[in-house]
Amino acid sequence: MAASEAEVVIIGCGISGIAAAHKLLKAGFENVRILEATARSGGRIKTDKLGNCITEIGASYIHGPSEENPVFCLARGYGLLDPEALKPENQAMDVGESPPMVSSWFSSSGQRLKDKQMDSALEMFEKIVDDTEQYENRRETPWASVGHFIRETARQRAAKRWKGKDEATRKLLMCAVSTMLKVECCSSATHSMDELDLAGFSMYEDLKGLDCTFPNGFEGLIKNLMSELPSDLVTYNRPVRCVHWNNSESGVNTVTVECDDGERIAADHVIVTVPLGYLKKHHSTLFSPPLPAHKLHSIQKLGFGTCNKIYVEFETPWWDADCDVIYLVWEDEEDISDQVSDISKYWIKKMASFTVLKPAQKNSHVLCGWIAGHESEYMETLPEEEVRQAITQLVRTFTGKPTITPKRILRSQWFHDPWTCGSYSHPAIGCSAQDLKNMMGPLPTKGSKSQPLQVLFAGEATHPCYYSSVHGALLTGWREADRLISHYISMSRQPDQTN
Ligand SMILES: Cc1cc2nc3c(=O)[nH]c(=O)nc-3n(C[C@H](O)[C@H](O)[C@H](O)COP(=O)(O)OP(=O)(O)OC[C@H]3O[C@@H](n4cnc5c(N)ncnc54)[C@H](O)[C@@H]3O)c2cc1C
Ligand SMILES: *[C@@H]1O[C@H](CO)[C@@H](O)[C@H](O)[C@H]1NC(C)=O
Repeated sequence: MAASEAEVVIIGCGISGIAAAHKLLKAGFENVRILEATARSGGRIKTDKLGNCITEIGASYIHGPSEENPVFCLARGYGLLDPEALKPENQAMDVGESPPMVSSWFSSSGQRLKDKQMDSALEMFEKIVDDTEQYENRRETPWASVGHFIRETARQRAAKRWKGKDEATRKLLMCAVSTMLKVECCSSATHSMDELDLAGFSMYEDLKGLDCTFPNGFEGLIKNLMSELPSDLVTYNRPVRCVHWNNSESGVNTVTVECDDGERIAADHVIVTVPLGYLKKHHSTLFSPPLPAHKLHSIQKLGFGTCNKIYVEFETPWWDADCDVIYLVWEDEEDISDQVSDISKYWIKKMASFTVLKPAQKNSHVLCGWIAGHESEYMETLPEEEVRQAITQLVRTFTGKPTITPKRILRSQWFHDPWTCGSYSHPAIGCSAQDLKNMMGPLPTKGSKSQPLQVLFAGEATHPCYYSSVHGALLTGWREADRLISHYISMSRQPDQTN
């Protein structure tokens, strides 16, 4: 069979599914279609508006916008980026260098803290996070988790570094480490840094370039990519219920995709791009026969947690004009902790930072609050008004200004999104590079006598070093397309053995 005749079904129209389709069509595949559960393309890339402000419900940043980042190159090609992001200096910036962000610190007793002083807690924290790299690929580490390592190291270093400071300041700085720990939970979409594998933590690789955003929204990238695909390529509102692979009876198509509405679609190859959160929940019904044990174990072992954003609009700004990020320090958290004791009562304590949106219009004043973990999942269940009130209380407490009232809020609810079941993946305790390898391996496994490459796996959680990112997801779509492309190239070079 020639590539042009192969029937390929892609499940999911996020960036990885779109990328796979693009590459396959370019290579001459003619029978490619995407089945998408929802009414839209983009998946975890989703842009909305609050007042005049562009808000990102999903991904905001191009992490490491430089030549090696395909998302950056595509966005640049479509003209979607600000001139600032295109500057060579910006692309050359190392993420290790502390980003030139202006931070403001507030405490739970309503004090505006000394930013310079508090930034020393931030610097120390970032240094400790960098120092986790020494455990890369280690079989065993002296620490049970990333959280454990950070906590113990912070205590040791603080004792030396802040020896000369007065008791109150020392206490405050330790509380600020708790703040940073909660902020770090958002980066990894984990409930607690205690759930991350210290050796596995360094599997993620940074690209050069200072993170940038899409001034008109990340979804512009999706729109541009979609405009280059045939309009009937995607079938929306078409959730897949089950992938029947390894069919021996039919002989022609080895895979059958069964949709929720009962339709059955025959295919030679299926590329599964559903999120890891969805796989964790539905793998037992999504595949028949079930997935092999090694794949299943890795799906269970890899972490997939929640990070949500709560955008908050104010009548007038209560932060400095040059402020990029606001940190909240709870004065009772000197014991260094990133989890609250009673989630239904204190969930809001998990929200430790706001980033300031730089609005296109002068009159819109919007902050983005970040919240991860079970506290974030609980927040999703509350009525919007209750969340708004909790934030009102929070802002009043920390600023000491009892009249500040947010106009409105807009939040993400990724954990309760039935097609995502969380935000993105992370290396949970016990994870290694092997688990990501297992995630990306096609079915049937090597050595099987049945038809090869029946089911392929793409998506953020299948990238060995850029998991959890948009560029990682995009690269996995290309990777699986390439897998099929080279398969058909090598087949065409071999004499046909079937007749
Ligand atoms: C809050 C948040 C912030 C983020 N911030 C950033 C950031 O700043 N920078 C960055 O690089 N990355 C960020 N990410 C991660 C990034 O968004 C993802 O890694 C990337 O978009 C994932 O693409 P994907 O194609 O793997 O999956 P998805 O985009 O999730 O696509 C999967 C698709 O499969 C569909 N689907 C699921 N089940 C079925 C089914 N049974 N049948 C049919 N279709 C199905 C879904 O509806 C979805 O459209 C963020 C993510 C979140 C949630
Ligand atoms: C796939 O089919 C072959 C041939 O019928 C069979 O030997 C093999 O066990 C099947 N594999 C799975 C995982 O069911």
